[in-house]
Amino acid sequence: MKIEVFEMERMQSTWENVVDFDLSESGVLPVSLRELSEMGLDLEWALNTPLTYSQSNGTPELREALAGIYPGTTIDNFEVTNGTSEANYLTALTLLQDGVGFALEVPNYMQLWGVPRSLGAEVSTFRLRQDENWEPDWAEFERAVNPQTRLVYVSNPNNPTGSVLSPGAMERIVRRCEEMGAYLLADEVYLGAEIDCPRTPSFWGMSDRVIVTSGLSKAYGIPGVRIGWIVGPTELVRECWTQHDSVTICPNKLSDAVARIAVKTENRERLYQRGRALLQRNRRIFTDWVAGLGEGYSFIPPKAGALAFLKYSSPIPSLELVERIRTNQSTLIVPGIHLGLEGYLRFWLGGEQAYLEEGLRRVAEELP
Ligand SMILES: Cc1ncc(COP(=O)(O)O)c(C=O)c1O
Repeated sequence: MKIEVFEMERMQSTWENVVDFDLSESGVLPVSLRELSEMGLDLEWALNTPLTYSQSNGTPELREALAGIYPGTTIDNFEVTNGTSEANYLTALTLLQDGVGFALEVPNYMQLWGVPRSLGAEVSTFRLRQDENWEPDWAEFERAVNPQTRLVYVSNPNNPTGSVLSPGAMERIVRRCEEMGAYLLADEVYLGAEIDCPRTPSFWGMSDRVIVTSGLSKAYGIPGVRIGWIVGPTELVRECWTQHDSVTICPNKLSDAVARIAVKTENRERLYQRGRALLQRNRRIFTDWVAGLGEGYSFIPPKAGALAFLKYSSPIPSLELVERIRTNQSTLIVPGIHLGLEGYLRFWLGGEQAYLEEGLRRVAEELP
């Protein structure tokens, strides 16, 4: 199997550590080990523990803590992975093969664009529509999710729009998956990063066709430890574990320990709260900045997540615009084309105030 280039990830890997201002990031400003030690992480234990392999599907303690988050689960419903991306990847490896149908919403993070195609799946898309407050185009959805469909992917809250599906939309998606005999893969890595709306409801528990992936990288602000998880029916999770054995074997032992601290209820809420304060401030800064751009720009303020998705009216392709901004201003943002929707630009709202302000000032210098 030869996986296609994941365009956004490749662009980020190439430039994010080279530019002066990286607004292509996507999570809440990361926390430090010191902050985690103040939440109970035992650094002395970390210094003394032999660096063995960890339990390959996640330590029972971590899976026990996760089971406390998802009603009706036991530790056998979880596979702990190296990031949410590995959780998505293992799910795709488990369920997709030559000729089966795979449907995903666009715009999206697009990891599960190249991977399903490389596995031989027939990929269909359905649009989220800005003019419908980023709800799905239902006619396209029903065409894309059909009796051939094995797996449907949504990210909710959505990367890049920051939208959150309404309860009615969630229900409709799940029922269609049930009717078509498809699994729904709900990537909920942004759950908890609500800016001023109530906590996003999880798809978990709506049907036995639902699989949820998530992790520490976005709402928790801990991308560097690379911890994610799959929550799903036990048999399916066991199959994902089988795939895991041949990919990375296990999560890192220190990372599992960090995750055990981070997912404790009081710490999780503290991390979410930290993110919310920062995102509220940055969304205000971004909204004021857009207002200052004048005609030809529009965006729906994100409800959740650390991103803003800006529509522009100029015919310049988004990749060309992003390259111009990077070259002339040493500032990186994400072109809409990498997210499945041309005519848009994606900005990171999860960082420090001064960093965001200077990055935006530079971007404005180059906008048409
Ligand atoms: C929707 C979505 N899923 C998964 C990932 C990857 O997350 P992780 O860093 O946990 O692998 C990202 C990263 O941007 C994302 O936006």
